[in-house]
Amino acid sequence: MEATVIILAAGEGTRMKSNHAKVSHQILAKPMIRWVVDAALAAGAGRVITVVGSHADEVRALLAGLDGVECVEQAERLGTGHAVRVALEATGVCEGPVVILNGDLPLIEPKTIRKFADTVADGTAAAAVLTMTTPDPFGYGRIELDEAGQVLRIIEQKDCTDEQAKTLLECNAGCYAFDGAALAAHIGEVGCDNAQGEYYLPDMLEILRNHGLGVTYFHCNDFREGLGVNSRAQLAELTAIARDRINARLMAEGVTMIDPASTWIGPDATVGRDTIIYPATMLMGETVIGEECTVGPNTRLTDTRVGDHSVIDETVAENVQIDNFVTCGPRAYLRPGTHLCDHSKAGTHVEIKKSTIGVGSKVPHLSYIGDTTMGEGVNVGAGSITCNYDGVHKNATTIGDNTFIGSDTMMVAPVNIGANAVTGASSCITKDVPDGALAIERSEQRIIEGYTARKRARQ
Ligand code: UD1
Ligand code: CA
Repeated sequence: MEATVIILAAGEGTRMKSNHAKVSHQILAKPMIRWVVDAALAAGAGRVITVVGSHADEVRALLAGLDGVECVEQAERLGTGHAVRVALEATGVCEGPVVILNGDLPLIEPKTIRKFADTVADGTAAAAVLTMTTPDPFGYGRIELDEAGQVLRIIEQKDCTDEQAKTLLECNAGCYAFDGAALAAHIGEVGCDNAQGEYYLPDMLEILRNHGLGVTYFHCNDFREGLGVNSRAQLAELTAIARDRINARLMAEGVTMIDPASTWIGPDATVGRDTIIYPATMLMGETVIGEECTVGPNTRLTDTRVGDHSVIDETVAENVQIDNFVTCGPRAYLRPGTHLCDHSKAGTHVEIKKSTIGVGSKVPHLSYIGDTTMGEGVNVGAGSITCNYDGVHKNATTIGDNTFIGSDTMMVAPVNIGANAVTGASSCITKDVPDGALAIERSEQRIIEGYTARKRARQ
């Protein structure tokens, strides 16, 4: 698709009742504007121009660093027609196919955009609008056709008579394709004599038709792709639709979901075949799960990569690398920069931050491990902690291969514990431990005979 795409994202989003830009609200942890921009890029857009205005800086920040995406500012929000005029004036776009997408149209699919843009590619039509029939058409612009079945005009809900609102059921999805030359030549003719006093982009269809140019529509069979977000209720509705769509695709690809309704997987996450996902699981951002894993219940993974055959139970992880045959949880909290190597374990009530747990090493119970590099085959006894923070600096701990950390060892960093070493239970380790050594720091145990009997006699 060799088209310029303009995305309209400057509106106030009044109906959201929010302190933030409407298009910054998230669907499955991804801002709405990114859904639309990514769909445009995936459709093959040559150039993506986003019109920002209300909360412009917030929206710009969401698009920062994206190749081929530029922002234009619509300082005064006078309507969608005005937004397009501002975009054309600022960028000088005046030819070639131009696709326009509302920024609050997150579920539009790249293949729909492509097929739709093709309707104007052969030059017979100068404009096309994507349409749909939804169970609840309230709020959408309605398509009025002439006797020949051609688009006559689009009437906004607020400008409809009761009769029109009842009988015109084909809705404008907020996605348009134009011949850029025709668009640029006539965008200035859009007026604002309507119920909202705004410059309506949909009026362009009637304007071009009156100039004798071809105007057509493309019906989207799946109305859900064309739904817009104007309110929190619609945000929740579209989030559920997005979830169902993603889950259906993953199940078709061989993923088992015990309860798809409570499984929330973001659009950029992937899951391998024969992985089983238990209820109340969220896989967000660029999370990648391999094959034959068990994930959940009650698990939230963000930007986390998991290999094959790992078991992740009641775990929260962000920015973590989990390799193959790893066991996590129940109740593990894995923080950024953590790497669990093959066959390792982060067990129950365990928190690990910015640490490598080597091949086959285990941190099974009630531990905090931070800023630590652990070799292979290490066993960390229950309740052991790396004291990595001295109040000013974060300090590192190293633990060599096959070392045994006794229960309740405090490792006061910076400290290096060698390979094949042992620390005695309850030791506070403040000095480096050489390879093969036992380090024990513990006051001697005293025995006071007959204590209980004497105490009872006194009472
Ligand atoms: C719009 C269409 C309606 C269509 C519906 C589909 C118009 C006049 N109406 O209505 O026919 O059925 O979308 O969801 O276009 N925006 C700007 N600058 C502005 C005003 C809006 O960039 O000055 C942006 C908004 O941020 C939003 C998009 O344009 O992303 C659509 O605006 P919105 O106010 O949501 O239009 P609707 O009332 O939903
Ligand atoms: Ca809208």
